[in-house]
Amino acid sequence: MYDVVATVFATTALLALVSLLLPLATRLSVPYAVLLAVVGVALGVPVGMADVVPGASPIAAMLQALGSLRLSGEAFLYIFLPTLLFETALNIDVRRLTDEIAPVLLMAIVAVVVSTFVVGFALRPVADVGLAACLMLGAILATTDPVAVVAIFRDIGAPRRLSTLVEGESLFNDAAAIALFTLLAATITGNDGGGALDGVAAFLRDFVGGLAFGGAAGWAVCVLLPLLRGQRLAEVTLTVAAAYLAFVIGDHYVHVSGVVAAVSAGLVLSHQGRRRLSPSSWEMLAKTWEQLGFWASSLIFLLAAMLVPRMLADLRANDFLLLAILVVSAFAARAITLFGLLPLLTATGVADRVMNSHKLVILWGGMRGAVSLALALAVTENEAIPPEIRRFVAILATGFVLFTLLVNAPTLRYVMRFLKLDRLSPEEQALRDRALALARAEVADGIGDMAREHGIEAILPVIETPPGEPPAKDAGLAPAVRAYSGLSILAEREQELCRHRFESYTVSRRVLADLLTQTSRLNDSIKAGGRDAYLAAAARGLEFGRSFRLALLMQRWFGIDALLSRALADRLEMMLTLRLVLHDLVRFAVGKVGPLLGEATDAVLREVLAIRLGEVERSIAAIGLQYPSYAETLQRQILALSALRLEEESIVRLREESILSQEAFNGLSRELAVRRKAQERRPRLDLGLDRGELIARVKLFSGLSPARQAEIERLMRPRLAVPGERIVRKGDRGDGMYFISSGAAEVQLAAPVRLGSGDFFGEMALIDDRPRNADVDALGFCQLLFLARRDFDRLLEREPALRAHIHDRATARRAG
Ligand code: CMP
Repeated sequence: MYDVVATVFATTALLALVSLLLPLATRLSVPYAVLLAVVGVALGVPVGMADVVPGASPIAAMLQALGSLRLSGEAFLYIFLPTLLFETALNIDVRRLTDEIAPVLLMAIVAVVVSTFVVGFALRPVADVGLAACLMLGAILATTDPVAVVAIFRDIGAPRRLSTLVEGESLFNDAAAIALFTLLAATITGNDGGGALDGVAAFLRDFVGGLAFGGAAGWAVCVLLPLLRGQRLAEVTLTVAAAYLAFVIGDHYVHVSGVVAAVSAGLVLSHQGRRRLSPSSWEMLAKTWEQLGFWASSLIFLLAAMLVPRMLADLRANDFLLLAILVVSAFAARAITLFGLLPLLTATGVADRVMNSHKLVILWGGMRGAVSLALALAVTENEAIPPEIRRFVAILATGFVLFTLLVNAPTLRYVMRFLKLDRLSPEEQALRDRALALARAEVADGIGDMAREHGIEAILPVIETPPGEPPAKDAGLAPAVRAYSGLSILAEREQELCRHRFESYTVSRRVLADLLTQTSRLNDSIKAGGRDAYLAAAARGLEFGRSFRLALLMQRWFGIDALLSRALADRLEMMLTLRLVLHDLVRFAVGKVGPLLGEATDAVLREVLAIRLGEVERSIAAIGLQYPSYAETLQRQILALSALRLEEESIVRLREESILSQEAFNGLSRELAVRRKAQERRPRLDLGLDRGELIARVKLFSGLSPARQAEIERLMRPRLAVPGERIVRKGDRGDGMYFISSGAAEVQLAAPVRLGSGDFFGEMALIDDRPRNADVDALGFCQLLFLARRDFDRLLEREPALRAHIHDRATARRAG
């Protein structure tokens, strides 16, 4: 059969098979990967014989096509690996992964080395191949495959931490194992470039280089994504291209590990992409990748498993002994890392403790899969490797993969049950029961109404039988646990509400990113210290962040207003949005969380929300005091955008109810989009730092002639101070003095002195030539004029009246 036709025929036939296997696995309660392996091996037998028995039937033709589908080990790696890795990386919670990075890297890198050596040296005395071949087999089998394990975890509701550890490990150990494998293969084929030390250096360069290159690629994608104007098809396509480009360019042109590059690009996108894409775009992206990942992992498994009969064709009795040694040594190697090395990390405080039961699950769940098979295939196809070694690797690698899939995978579930890892904690259990009871009560009400409407109340008791009494409101839950649960629910909800605001076009992408960072901090803080930590994190969210302070410095040092103006407008937009979100949250707390967790928790939640609302109100008022008209404009704009959203919703409803025709709906939607575009442009915030205007507001200068005023104007530097900012620090050298054009500042003395518009401060250090004698803080946003020390001297020399006034004030201040 013509090659292209055969390839298409064979691949699609496999996909058809795959579509049947997934439901079958659910039906049989067998891990999907295990079923794939079994079916693949079974399919391998007739496929292996198809060459011998040619036939004309479509089945025979398909078997022949499958037999002719000779994918090399390299093809396996290049076609399927980028998708597999990128998809896993995309789904990983990067925040959690960073928390666990020490144990993950230990298991990924150190464990690969330990496994390679333990397996290598254990096999060497019995095997009739050299040490290098034994080590190479160790490296091939050091990669773990999380697909089967994670599916089981998800099935029985294992702790999230376990999944993070196992997925993180498998992401990075592929890279380490492939690098080590390449090195050992080079030794065997005689292409060895240098000694062991060179090998280690090369490995580190590959790994770190891969991380950096992939990270840069991921960033580039994140920068490009917003430029695609929300075209979802283009966005997804760009990410697919990025996964492969990072892999291929990294591997072939930058000479770093392509595997690590693909992983790193995926992680950056997972972390950043969510903020840069609209929620619906992200959803589509995730769905598409899920599909691609499913195809890749299913096909690679089937194709690799189909080769097993061929690899096992010349099995010898001695091979069973070798396999037994391999199984024992591979698990021993993993145990050494988990029970010997991991505790060292914990003892030095680098990592949190991993429970022994978790370690046992990680040990038993270390399945080997597609990558191991692909690497083994690469060996069997390499003509430069002696046939004896090829046979050795092929048989043992496949034997071991099959062992983990047929022995470990099906039993993992029972191991976890035995270790009681499939159960919720008593707190979670109590919360779950309570939620269930509430939901049932709601359903019972609804069904009751419905039955009355239909006039079938008589049969109601048959339907409405919630088992047992609903648990009491505080059943089994300590108050602290309830508060913890309540705050967690609140933080999750807040994140959702912020996203919703973005979806409904009432908040810009930049501000959303800030809000999301804040809410994820809230979530983390609850774990660390409950209510107080939550409030502290919320307060930190309202502080002036790094980018704001940078903008402030740019204004001060270089007189660049644009950045500060934007930062201030962003801040106002964020506060206004947060205020709306907090109001929504209060309603949510009362309506949903309160009934679930009881009155006491409800009170705690309401209290923290009230505190937060108070702080947000104060921040808004501070900006509103200085820029009242801008605050009003922005508020009006947010309102107008919300109105547009409501209008859109009602149009969609009218369309759903078939009141609007499709054409009329399209026309209205287009019109709405145009209006939204016009409305979305945020007006610029004028900082009001015009020197002339600022000087006009200081009474001290008002008696001077316009010419003199113009001269002073040249000496003064306008400046904005933010609420709470320490403008002058006690004990510092005096570099100049300040005039307040608007706003208020406070001199921190035993009895604090308040200074308002037209006042000045910072003059004493200049006159007395002594350090600053008090702290001066901004009370709100202040527009200031700064006069540097040398200009101060020059100005006062020329303006005796001004000099007298300032000196008099200083004398009076000194006195008291
Ligand atoms: P300087 O010493 O340069 O820095 C701190 C400033 O606080 C000081 O200048 C004055 O401008 C101001 N200051 C100090 N003491 C008083 C006071 N008693 N009343 C008003 N302002 C004061």
